[in-house]
Amino acid sequence: SWTAANIAEQLIESVREQIGEGRAICGLSGGVDSAVAAALVQRAIGDRLTCVFVDHGLLRAGEREQVETDFASAIGAPLITLDDSEVFLGHLADVTDPETKRKIIGREFIRSFERAVAQALELQGQGTGSGAGSAGAAAGADADSAAGADSASAGSSASAGSVDFLVQGTLYPDVVESGGGAGTATIKSHHNVGGLPDDVEFTLVEPLRLLFKDEVRAVGRELGLPESIVGRHPFPGPGLGIRIVGAVDRERLDTLRAADAIVREEMTAAGLDNSVWQCPVVLLADVRSVGVQGDGRTYGHPIVLRPVSSEDAMTADWTRVPYETLALISNRITNEVPDVNRVVLDITSKPPGTIEWE
Ligand code: XMP
Repeated sequence: SWTAANIAEQLIESVREQIGEGRAICGLSGGVDSAVAAALVQRAIGDRLTCVFVDHGLLRAGEREQVETDFASAIGAPLITLDDSEVFLGHLADVTDPETKRKIIGREFIRSFERAVAQALELQGQGTGSGAGSAGAAAGADADSAAGADSASAGSSASAGSVDFLVQGTLYPDVVESGGGAGTATIKSHHNVGGLPDDVEFTLVEPLRLLFKDEVRAVGRELGLPESIVGRHPFPGPGLGIRIVGAVDRERLDTLRAADAIVREEMTAAGLDNSVWQCPVVLLADVRSVGVQGDGRTYGHPIVLRPVSSEDAMTADWTRVPYETLALISNRITNEVPDVNRVVLDITSKPPGTIEWE
């Protein structure tokens, strides 16, 4: 019978079978899925799992801090943080096509994970160093030291063991919409499915591949993860990179990050977190419109609010957010976020729209 306890037990058992005596790393995104996948694998193989958080520069405000504090302790595995925003933003410069953005981000995630392997081996006591790499010391390590550790241990990796498995929080809908299901077309390449490069050398471990989001949340609760993690709204791995229509750069990311923080704050204050599945905030960076602010003409960008209600993200309806909340959000964004002079509401269901704009 379907109980979260049974499912958790079975998943842990099959992860144990798949990985055997091997070692794994798991990319944490700050979302529910990767956190639950990591917790399952931690229960299955213990300290042969290391978690990796890649700061790709496409994160929302406060995301990295939350992962470094809450997630690492709840999951019980050591965490390596890579500061790879220069790398990601460099590759994304001038790219406007949504699928190209997704492919670049998916590929760079894998390159980051590859760079994390040497550090993960250190943490697991398999490195060339003196075992100085503790969880505390490694958290916050930057890209430079990651590269350094990589080359330092390259010659001895055979004797020092290897990390062959990469854990991902892929869900059933991700598989279907990335074209993985029988006879289905690709709608968009989710970063951890269709967005993967062809030359991945890791063997993928995807314990949630047959589950829907609500089932994943139930399994997470069963494993003792706190509500602050299992109750989070979905957030895509490619992050704010697919919420800027147009090319991605630091200035545009700052604009979107500021608007997104206001939306989250006001939705929470209005008590709407439980009635909304998620609310993407999108910057139309290639669109400008005329406005009047203070005592002058402006020619700024629109921000789109995309609040949706859904059971499983395969279909969705736009959420009827109270007018007062929408008014508050609109006033705050246009007053507080430079370069934004208009806020619009997306009232499209899925289908025909998708939840994310790219
Ligand atoms: P769409 O836009 O396809 O989104 O209607 C469906 C759900 O999936 C999330 N999403 C992603 N999640 N990696 C993820 O981890 C991705 O590449 C990705 N793309 C979309 C989206 O936020 C929504 O919950």
